[in-house]
Amino acid sequence: MIFQQLFDPVSSTYTYLLARRYGAEALIIDPVIEHVDTYISLLNRLDLKLVKAVDTHVHADHETGLGKLRDLTKCVTVMGEMSGADVVSMRVREDETIDVDGISLRTIYTPGHTDDSYSFASADRVFTGDALLIGGTGRTDFQNGDPRQAYDSLFNKLLKLPGETLVFPAHDYHGNTASTIGYETARNPRLQVNSADEYAEIMNNLNLPDPKQMDAVVPANKTIGRTLSQLVRPGEEMEPEEVREASARDDAILIDLREEGERARDGWIADSVHIPYGDLDSQLTGTGTLTHLAQDHQGRIVLYCAYGERSALALDTMRNAGFTGVRHLRGGLAAWLNSGGEVERKT
Ligand SMILES: [Fe+2]
Repeated sequence: MIFQQLFDPVSSTYTYLLARRYGAEALIIDPVIEHVDTYISLLNRLDLKLVKAVDTHVHADHETGLGKLRDLTKCVTVMGEMSGADVVSMRVREDETIDVDGISLRTIYTPGHTDDSYSFASADRVFTGDALLIGGTGRTDFQNGDPRQAYDSLFNKLLKLPGETLVFPAHDYHGNTASTIGYETARNPRLQVNSADEYAEIMNNLNLPDPKQMDAVVPANKTIGRTLSQLVRPGEEMEPEEVREASARDDAILIDLREEGERARDGWIADSVHIPYGDLDSQLTGTGTLTHLAQDHQGRIVLYCAYGERSALALDTMRNAGFTGVRHLRGGLAAWLNSGGEVERKT
């Protein structure tokens, strides 16, 4: 397994790069925008294809690299369902997994530091964001933080993991790189409390100054979709109503780019063909189903995904590969549902 822990000295942020082996798909957790070029050269050096970029929560102390990585690599951006970011490709819930080639991370909703804080666990390690730090815990005094929720996330979720589970936080200010659940349970000073009230008493009296760049960084991290619209050209975007009318005229071939788990959870638009975004490269070769569909139904292909991010990226890829007349559903299935659109589900 390839596992790289990278450090941003300005915000003391840890970023993690994971892949099964050289030449495989990779996933990055909590990337920092200033270091995106370093990540790209590291990916190239290790012959890795970045397919997913994940943030544990909306950060207040550094600007996320999610949007820039998406623009440069066409990776899928992932956050928890409670995230206030305007556009991410995929939102995950408690107990759902984030999967790339040979790696699967289970989602644990761990609010308290913020209301959109998630941890991600594999068999032997957990990425805790700011929910659990080494010898500390994330502050709870902004972004809808709540010390009692934090207590619950810590004591009823993270500390219930096996003691030998490695802990990799989003920050460390003292040069520590990793810990274990067992060590933190026994030694982390913040965790030596007997009740949520006692924990809240500590957290409510920390009196910390706000992070230096907070006022600029939080809004930036909530608008990572702002560069996305540049990918789509006039006439390439369809509103739900237009898609509905085109379908009724039998004038649209709908392509669902989401993953199987998202389809099972949220359903799909009737008569759509399922081609996961991750299969796009092979689907656009001479023998790919999408190639055949696009050739046979020129001007009728309509791509959609969860929120319109993967479909915009795929649209750009297809246009660059020479396919013409491809369009996408703006805002994805979320917009479809908002407009009263119906979905089918497995029975
Ligand atoms: Fe944070």
